[in-house]
Amino acid sequence: MKNIGKAFLSGLILWTGMALAGSETPFPGDWQSWNKASTPLASIGALPGCDADVSALPPIYQETVEIYCAVRPEGPGAVDILVKPAVADAYKGRKGGFPDGTNMILHLKDLQLLFVTGHTGGAAQYGVYKEDGTDVTDADASSILGVNTCRVCHTGYADFCVEGQCGASQ
Ligand code: HEC
Repeated sequence: MKNIGKAFLSGLILWTGMALAGSETPFPGDWQSWNKASTPLASIGALPGCDADVSALPPIYQETVEIYCAVRPEGPGAVDILVKPAVADAYKGRKGGFPDGTNMILHLKDLQLLFVTGHTGGAAQYGVYKEDGTDVTDADASSILGVNTCRVCHTGYADFCVEGQCGASQ
């Protein structure tokens, strides 16, 4: 299943159509002015390829690498964590209380993709956009760019993530 998802991802990134798109949370048009957060992943700087030794990292990070490492041979590459200025304190506090709307971004800079997390009534919502706002969230919810993949991890690691926030400011 994962391999099908990975093969699909490379086509999807190149593809500009929107027929399969289905983000749960809106594109943040002003994302380029958001604040960069300094988190464990941001300090590593990149998501590595599949042959990286990540055994020293917490299980949630190992699983993230396992799921996304094969999107290109050297791995997904450089990342930034971006936080909407209005929720900077909520992100630092790691206690939830996020307002409705898109609040956080994992910017995959080499892939030119934005993984976005937003909220509706405190419930985390997920999506994937190109930098220009094209919604490339996979309508097949179980694929690696489908919202269920995000949800299983971000909501599933309930001891680690708070209201869909998995990173911590350092
Ligand atoms: C297997 C686990 C896993 C999966 C699957 C996953 N993520 Fe994450 N994600 C993480 C972890 C861990 C971090 C925190 C990394 C850090 O900054 O140290 C993170 C960070 C983020 C952030 C930055 C805000 C935060 O939570 O600190 C966003 C936004 C995000 N992910 C969105 C997504 C979206 C959208 C998807 C699905 C397309 C997804 N993620 C899939 C584990 C995962």
